[in-house]
Parts: sequence; structure tokens; C-alpha cells
Amino acid sequence: MKIAILGVGAYAIALARVFNKNKENKVTMWAKFKEEANVVMKNRENPGVLPGVKIPEDIEITMNLCACMEKADIVVFAVPAGAVRQVSEEVAVYATKEQILCVVSKGIEPKTNMLMSEIVYEATKNENICMISGPSFAVEIANDSVTGFNVACKNIEVANIVKKQFENGLVVTACDDLIGVQVAASIKNVFAIFMGMLNGMEMPDSYKASCLACLVRDLGEIIVALGGKRETIFTFAGLGDMLLTCMSSKSRNFTFGTYVGRGFTMQQAFEEMSVKTVEGIHTLGTITDLMKKKNFNIKSLEVLHGILYENESKDNILEKIRM
Ligand SMILES: NC(=O)c1ccc[n+]([C@@H]2O[C@H](COP(=O)([O-])OP(=O)(O)OC[C@H]3O[C@@H](n4cnc5c(N)ncnc54)[C@H](O)[C@@H]3O)[C@@H](O)[C@H]2O)c1
Repeated sequence: MKIAILGVGAYAIALARVFNKNKENKVTMWAKFKEEANVVMKNRENPGVLPGVKIPEDIEITMNLCACMEKADIVVFAVPAGAVRQVSEEVAVYATKEQILCVVSKGIEPKTNMLMSEIVYEATKNENICMISGPSFAVEIANDSVTGFNVACKNIEVANIVKKQFENGLVVTACDDLIGVQVAASIKNVFAIFMGMLNGMEMPDSYKASCLACLVRDLGEIIVALGGKRETIFTFAGLGDMLLTCMSSKSRNFTFGTYVGRGFTMQQAFEEMSVKTVEGIHTLGTITDLMKKKNFNIKSLEVLHGILYENESKDNILEKIRM
């Protein structure tokens, strides 16, 4: 099969290497920006984001989107969530109805409240849209570490096609809850801020575990409120990814939360991390509004929102979000 990977960043390279392990696959990567393209084509790596990880010689890298997508069976959008709308509009010019379009970006679009698959559908009207998601860091996947993934698509047969091409050395499960997998992928960033905050407050492990149990309950509520299946919690893309993000200082959201827990303001935390924002903050605003509109009362979101935006007390958090 021909696999077109859009983007030449950390995750794009990691995914390209996985698809390329099946020597029956022909993998092509699209680099939109000249400066990045020049660096990646010359070095066959992207030293800025994934130093030391080579792009195999048999993977073609092009700046021509049409050529990259031509006759591709699977097109993978490995770009930031904020770029998915723009890339979808560019892809729509060349996409055919038969092509499978896969997103890996995690997030809900601010203002429209749309999931990534919905943005791609709006632009392309393609029905074969998948999400690949699971507990993973680009650097680990690129270095052949084994992890679990879900490929989700409304049409399970389509999900199975992607699974077959992608599971080279990985443990991959197909599922049909495209909404649930995407909601879990977005909300885990919010919960990583929450758990990071408890970490920064140096709360005991048993306290953190009790709060985590409440967050898992809330994840289920949010998935169901947005039209997904509660049982998607019990998947690699659900609890698997949430636990990774909620326990790892490699997560920017967790690190941000840790600063907040230590008493930094949001602004001070951004400055300390030398970033302008973190994904979970955008998602917190979007999902809090969305839940209010739908009349769902999600305790953990309200507590986190109150602490971050209304300077509410961090005392008795478990009591406030309790079962
Ligand atoms: N890095 C990870 O470990 C990881 C894990 C899971 C999911 N993801 C998801 O993968 C996506 C990409 O993350 P990353 O870490 O590879 O980011 P990155 O910054 O390393 O790479 C992003 C790539 O997208 C390209 N890009 C950005 N805007 C674009 C646009 N408007 N048009 C075309 N190309 C554009 C960039 O040039 C770059 O090649 C994110 O949505 C992230 O949520 C990443």
C-alpha cells in the first residue's frame, strides 16, 4: 500500500518508520515549509524535534502535496491540531473518496468545538476517517519501543485496513468509537494538568490515586456526553493514554500543572516553561463551555477551572470531586 504522511515533525517521522517496516508499503512524506524541508531532505532527520532518528532512504520526502497523495491508500495527518483545518482544505483538492484519511492530532477546535475527524470531514466529505491513538511518545516509537494503539473508525473494516498496515511490531486494536477515542485523546491533557497540580502540591500517592479514580469517572461522563461509548475508557487510547500523560513529567501539561501546584500563576508557569500555552488549557476552556451548554456537571473540570481562573482554594480537592 502507499502511505502518505503529512508533516515531517517528530510524530510524522516516528509513524513513517513504523509503516515503512512493512516492506510492501511505499511511504512518502510531505514537508510544507521550505526551510524545514531543506533540513530534513539534506540530513534525513529533523534535528530540531527528533535528533538522531533517521528517515530511511526508501521513504520519499517531497514538498509537492499532490505527488505525495497521488495513489496513496492511507493519508496520515501528522500536524499540530491547530493546523488540521488548513491542511484538510489543502488535502481536499487532491483526496479521492477511496482514500483513508487518518488523524493523530489530539484536541477540540476552539470556537467550533469540533473534533479533528469532523474538521477533516467538513473539508473533504470523505467517509473513511480514522484516528490513530494510544500511549506513545514519538521518541519511543521511533526507537522501536512497543506500545498499544487503537485505530478508530466508524467503519470497523476501514480501521482494520489501517491496523494491518500499522501494527508492524506494535500492538494495535481496531475499534469503531471514533468519537470516544478522540474525546479521550483531548481530555487527557486537561487531566494531566490536574494530576500535575497534585504532584506539585506533593500530595500522597493514595490521595492522587483517589483523585485519578474520580477523573476516570469524569472521562466516562464526558465521552458519553459527546456521543462516544463509555467502554472506550478501557482501551489503549482511553485509560492507556490518560495514565501515561497523567503520570509523566515528559508531558508538558503535567509539568505545567506541577508549577501551578507549587503556587505559580498560569503566566509564571508559562514563563518558567518558556512556552506561550499548553494544549490542555485550550481544551479545558472548550470542554468546560461545552459541558455547561449540555447541562453536564463535571466536577473535576469545574474545580480545575476555578483554581486556574478564579484563584479558588486548592484545599479539599478530593472532597470536591468525590464519588
Ligand atoms: N510527539 C508525540 O509524541 C506525539 C504523540 C501523540 C500524538 N502526537 C500528535 O502529533 C501531532 C504532531 O506532533 P509532533 O510532535 O510531530 O509536532 P512537530 O512540531 O514535531 O511537527 C509538526 C509538523 O507539522 C508541520 N506543520 C505545522 N503546521 C502545518 C501546516 N499549517 N501545514 C502543513 N504542515 C504543518 C510542521 O512543519 C512539522 O513538520 C500533534 O497533533 C500531536 O498531538 C504527537
